Amino acid sequence: MSRLLFLLLCASALLASSMASAAIVEHSFHVKNLTLRRLCSEQVITAVNGSLPGPTLRVREGDTLVVHVFNESPYNITIHWHGIFQKLSGWADGPNMVTQCPIIPGSSYTYRFKVIKQEGTLWWHAHVSTLRATVYGALIIRPRSGHSYPFPKPDKEVPILLGEWWNANVIDVENQALATGGAPNNSNAYTINGRPGDLYPCSQNQTYTLKVENGKTYLLRIINAALNNQLFFKIANHKMTVVSIDASYTQPYITDVVVTGPGMTTDVLITADQPVGSYYMAASPYASAPGVPFDNTTTRGILIYEGSTAPTPIMPLMPATNDTPTAHKFYSNLTGLAGGPHWVPVPRQIDEHMFVTVGVGLAPCGGNATCPGPFGQRFSASMNNESFQLPTGLSMLQAFFFNVSGVYTPNFPDAPPVKFDYTNANISSDLSLLFTPKSTSVKVLKYNATVQIVLQNTALLAVENHPIHIHGFNFHVLAQGFGNYDPVNDPKNFNLVNPPVRNTIGVPVGGWAVIRFTANNPGVWFMHCHLDVHLPWGLATAFVVQNGPTPGSTLPPPPADLPKC
Ligand code: C2O
Repeated sequence: MSRLLFLLLCASALLASSMASAAIVEHSFHVKNLTLRRLCSEQVITAVNGSLPGPTLRVREGDTLVVHVFNESPYNITIHWHGIFQKLSGWADGPNMVTQCPIIPGSSYTYRFKVIKQEGTLWWHAHVSTLRATVYGALIIRPRSGHSYPFPKPDKEVPILLGEWWNANVIDVENQALATGGAPNNSNAYTINGRPGDLYPCSQNQTYTLKVENGKTYLLRIINAALNNQLFFKIANHKMTVVSIDASYTQPYITDVVVTGPGMTTDVLITADQPVGSYYMAASPYASAPGVPFDNTTTRGILIYEGSTAPTPIMPLMPATNDTPTAHKFYSNLTGLAGGPHWVPVPRQIDEHMFVTVGVGLAPCGGNATCPGPFGQRFSASMNNESFQLPTGLSMLQAFFFNVSGVYTPNFPDAPPVKFDYTNANISSDLSLLFTPKSTSVKVLKYNATVQIVLQNTALLAVENHPIHIHGFNFHVLAQGFGNYDPVNDPKNFNLVNPPVRNTIGVPVGGWAVIRFTANNPGVWFMHCHLDVHLPWGLATAFVVQNGPTPGSTLPPPPADLPKC
């Protein structure tokens, strides 16, 4: 038998055995202009397959997802599958200029990846400029057939996508801000499944409605797809039981409010156990930064019981917009489901200790321009005094794979160059600390290195809760608190038994969080603030994880249709 025939037979046998439990789920995304009527006016947006939110993708753990993206819009596009591990498939991760050059108007790219060792709610979104404002949707991973949830099976599952809406072209909003160095205009509304709800003008018939049956249980898959705001979410008179966050199971946690930062997902069970009637569900901002303007409005939808004749729904009492105690209570009470499906024990031996400051700052206004920012300068942001800039000629992952130097520099520091009293309000206008250099500085990690990061918020300009997201990995959240991290006493409170597992951590406002992960995936993995406004300012860095010793720990070559720059 020829060697080739033998290999083909082996390959088809392998394929047949994996087909038994896993499927290939294939979709086409047509990204193009869509005209929608919201808040009394018509707006042209960029959308996938003519809907907002875009299509919900449903797979089972073990499946392969194949999405053909056709860019029929006027803008460059990439799509990111937020929270997907992309084990050995970094070419499909999607952040613009990090893992790929953008799909230019008129061209296409096929994202192909396996969904393994994770289940729950994730989502997909554009990862170039501000387009994720309207280019987003749910990605739901159910257990393999024959496997079940580690909680009672709900009667129905419902995606709840919380979004943010501008009465403007979001690309114009961003470009205008970047031209002057100021902050972009705030949104005009929040939305539930694309609808603002009846507290906004002309939106009476733009209210999301969920019909429920008395006594039945519903799994709400809540996704914060907003750009720049953390949100409180409540349903009048109904308790929610959190069972999963960021596609990682949790110990059931009963609450009457969910707090969620951009990028995060929260799965909750609710039972229709209240008197037959109608109840508002609502989302309102958690704005942690004192003095920073934000969209202070509330979106709401209606939970209506079958047979209800109630004329007006009951409205939940929302927390105050600066209610940090409520936010902290929610975030810090979540625990992971140790021993549950896909549970990974906490790494105990640490190879890389990092202490990373996160916060905003300034960049020089430049020339004889006038800038509206503080001290007449431009807004900027940094991690460890490095303000991240995307490369322009070649994506970082291509530079990694083809060994091209000069695209990024492997010198991201393990600690800030200057130590200071990070959360002391007196340093907030210290000009010697506010200006940080621009760079494309990355942290290089050996394959399988274990990493601990203390994320420390700073008071530069203003303290703020930054939702920090890492691509390619989930991490354990060992502890979080306020003020400056104390390396002597805080480790005593690390949860090494059942910490929550996330892909996005809201670092407490004027505080810190400690996370750990194992760098078991070669490639380039972006780490950044998921408040979209902070990304072009530079609140980011990347991990470059080297290949391991075997083919199974080596990044394969890029697909043939990877977009060219
Ligand atoms: Cu949800 Cu880098 O993003």
